[in-house]
Amino acid sequence: MSRARDAFLRHLAQTSDAPIGLEIERAEGCWLYCADGRRYLDLIAGIGVSALGHGNPAVLAAIERQSRRHLHAMVYGEYVIEAQAAYAARLAEALPREFSRVYFTNSGAEAIEGALKAARKFTGRATFVSFDGAYHGDTMAALALMGNETFRAPFEPLPGPVRRLPFNNGAALESIDERVAAVVIEPIQAEGGVRIPSRDFMLALRERCSRAGTLLIFDEVLTGLGRTGRLFAMEHFGVKPDLIVLAKALGGGMPLGAFCGSDEILGRLAHDPPLGHITTFGGHPVSCAAGLAAFDQILSNQLWETAARSGAAFRARLEKLIGRQILAVRGLGLLIGVEFAQAALAHRFVAETIARGVVINWTLNSDRVVRLAPPLTISAAELDFAFVAMNHALEAIAAGG
Ligand SMILES: Cc1ncc(COP(=O)(O)O)c(C=O)c1O
Repeated sequence: MSRARDAFLRHLAQTSDAPIGLEIERAEGCWLYCADGRRYLDLIAGIGVSALGHGNPAVLAAIERQSRRHLHAMVYGEYVIEAQAAYAARLAEALPREFSRVYFTNSGAEAIEGALKAARKFTGRATFVSFDGAYHGDTMAALALMGNETFRAPFEPLPGPVRRLPFNNGAALESIDERVAAVVIEPIQAEGGVRIPSRDFMLALRERCSRAGTLLIFDEVLTGLGRTGRLFAMEHFGVKPDLIVLAKALGGGMPLGAFCGSDEILGRLAHDPPLGHITTFGGHPVSCAAGLAAFDQILSNQLWETAARSGAAFRARLEKLIGRQILAVRGLGLLIGVEFAQAALAHRFVAETIARGVVINWTLNSDRVVRLAPPLTISAAELDFAFVAMNHALEAIAAGG
């Protein structure tokens, strides 16, 4: 056993008894190169992070430039940091006009927390609404929104009140009333098993929130920045939220999250009290420089269109596998869910596919569903490699009974 693996097992706090455990030597493009000399196709992109793949030269150059210029200098919001300001301006340009302000954080969960605080401050109300199957992160308030009792219950009591509604159920929206500060929703649920709500549901949700004076928060941590075939998943529904939360691909492989909204809503965080929401490392200059370089490439190469094309072609191939152990294939762009009849089959499929050199995983709140979220730059030949590996994995499962 290598020294790194030994230390990993002895000293790194573990998150399960069954880590994937690949020992990463280096990563380039869509490939992970491991200490055992094998390479693996990264079909989850570090779970939606590496939109441009690994080791993108423009991102690396931006990191180097910013590192030489300066690292951390002061808590977020006090000094004028060019990388932060330039990235905020670029995001504001790409988002609908109302989203003129960006608050940078370290992570998706931290951005969710900030968005919840902004909603309480703006509305003066206490209650939040989330949906079954939802995943918004693992800090206490983000966990309170989680749509899966198994992960929530051991940590209760959690911040609240939170009302949880069935996902994609128009009738349930009636319970959004004038006590609700904000409704938080993933426009496409990822950990919930890649579930796509209907356009009618999303329109009704917007309508109901507007009528109740409730803020609508879109968690686009995973769906944002091109993954679903649009720059932002909200574009599929023609619905604009009041706040949008981003992370994952936002930092180009460095840690970065953000919540974005209007002057009016985000402006409330600066007063009564001032400094009521601050962060030491949020919007780190190197993360912002890396993220901006990545975002510029997503924009200039219109990578959401690439994602739409390659995602549709790959889904069409995967659909041919329906009827063997697979019940359904769904998704938008390069966020794809493959649904099995039983969790045990999905888990076996993941293990057999990884053994054939392709990294995939199942979703947290629907463990019958395997989620695919490769770099948006993945080539047709690489997707072909993945398809062959998955096909062989299914054959091995069928042969093993
Ligand atoms: C939709 C969604 N929201 C929020 C989060 C939390 O982000 P982070 O892990 O950066 O805190 C995740 C992470 O997987 C996510 O998928």
